[in-house]
Amino acid sequence: MTVNHDPNRIIIFDTTLRDGEQSPGASMNLEEKLRIAETLEELGVDVIEAGFPIASNGDFEAVNEISKVVRKPIICGLARSGKADIERAAEALQPAERKRIHTFIATSPLHMKYKLQMEPEEVLQQVVDSVSHARNFTDDVDWSPEDGSRSDPDFLCRTVEAAISAGATCINLPDTVGYVIPEEFGGLIAMLRERVPNSDKAIFSAHCHNDLGLAVANSLAAVQAGARQVECTINGLGERAGNAALEEIVMAIRTRKDMLAYETGINTEVITRASRLVSAVTGFAVQPNKAIVGANAFAHEAGIHQDGVLKHAGTYEIMTPESVGLVESKLVMGKHSGRHAFREKIRELGYEIGDNQMQDAFRRFKDLADKKKDVYDEDIVALIDDEVMRENDRIRFKSLQVVCGSVGPQTAELALEIDGEERATKASGDGPVDATFNAITELFPHEARLQLYQVHAVTEGTDAQAEVTVRLEENGKTVNGQGADTDTLVASARAYVNALNKLLVKREKTAPTALSA
Ligand code: KIV
Ligand code: ZN
Repeated sequence: MTVNHDPNRIIIFDTTLRDGEQSPGASMNLEEKLRIAETLEELGVDVIEAGFPIASNGDFEAVNEISKVVRKPIICGLARSGKADIERAAEALQPAERKRIHTFIATSPLHMKYKLQMEPEEVLQQVVDSVSHARNFTDDVDWSPEDGSRSDPDFLCRTVEAAISAGATCINLPDTVGYVIPEEFGGLIAMLRERVPNSDKAIFSAHCHNDLGLAVANSLAAVQAGARQVECTINGLGERAGNAALEEIVMAIRTRKDMLAYETGINTEVITRASRLVSAVTGFAVQPNKAIVGANAFAHEAGIHQDGVLKHAGTYEIMTPESVGLVESKLVMGKHSGRHAFREKIRELGYEIGDNQMQDAFRRFKDLADKKKDVYDEDIVALIDDEVMRENDRIRFKSLQVVCGSVGPQTAELALEIDGEERATKASGDGPVDATFNAITELFPHEARLQLYQVHAVTEGTDAQAEVTVRLEENGKTVNGQGADTDTLVASARAYVNALNKLLVKREKTAPTALSA
């Protein structure tokens, strides 16, 4: 049987939740992964690689929950070649409407000799065994030769042929270390399609890393050589220099139809929202000049450019901001807006929240409208995100009073509610942020180390809300906390407290004995 696939349709396989999450510091909790998966569904990705189920209970749970909730895309779980990995992936994927197992083993001389310590013939046998075993659980099996781009071409052809004979329906070629250049990678895909006798029975796929900044170019070269799936991540999130950026591949295909006569199923208007969500959840800021989703990607500063764009947008714009969902900030409501209008606004922004959360959110919205002249959609999103994130928190922010300025000492008077009991303290530090964090540590002693402190203005103007990300690390595990407020220090305290709450959940899940704070 040959594959029945529209020859011009490119399958978008998103691995933000698997390869993206492997990026140090980018860890996400279940709730965050679910929100991202739902956004990926809206974005229209074809496949979501939701995790590596044997890697941790958290990964298993994420793949399992996403399989229950997200119905349109195929849900995929990663597995090494061993039976236990494949069975764990199959178990996690059990509730999925459409499921895929992605199994891999390294095929390059370097990886086989030093990492696997296996002979090539043993690896070949594992390819057959793993793919055949995966086929016991699903008809949709993706097989990857890890470090494929640095593998011996003859051996690569043998493994690919064996994988397809054993039942792989997709052959994904990873450039694991981001080493190749576009012509070379396109050549590898073309070679496999030409030389492997049963190549017409599988879809070929590209999985490119960005160590030389070529991941998107390599992915597009693969498409031009016949690959019909690309594995990519939102914002190019991923280990080291990251993976190929979904938004860049999709917009290149959309914008350059004349050279790339292909289609994707992506609703490009959701790109900006997906990018912001991934950035907020991971604390990985998007560089301002990043293609498609950077803050400056559609900004025209130079007078000569502004003049041209005003006369005809096409003079300096090859795609419209609207096409990626970048719309002018909308003034939504002011301090006279009522509860009903607020509830409608929240619905329109895509949130479903319970009555208690709605009451708290409305109260905070009123406070915000009192402090801030104009309240935009982004303000409401930041506020609701902040509220939603705190639903099950053991530690809650109550109040903060800070003394700062050029004459020290800077002090922070802080009140928190911990397991329902209010506690307060006063602490000093090297600056107001340090004093605030010291006060939190006094009230809730812990050993976690601060790895990142980042402030971002939600909208323009000096009355803008600050959105703060705090990354904490404890015993090799990292969490990202967020907080938003018009007062940067309150936002900082909220973000730190949010990170601590996440750490508590993580501790509970991984080592119950370490629970005492
Ligand atoms: O980069 C890589 O080789 C991978 C494989 C597991 C596909 O992520
Ligand atoms: Zn990878």
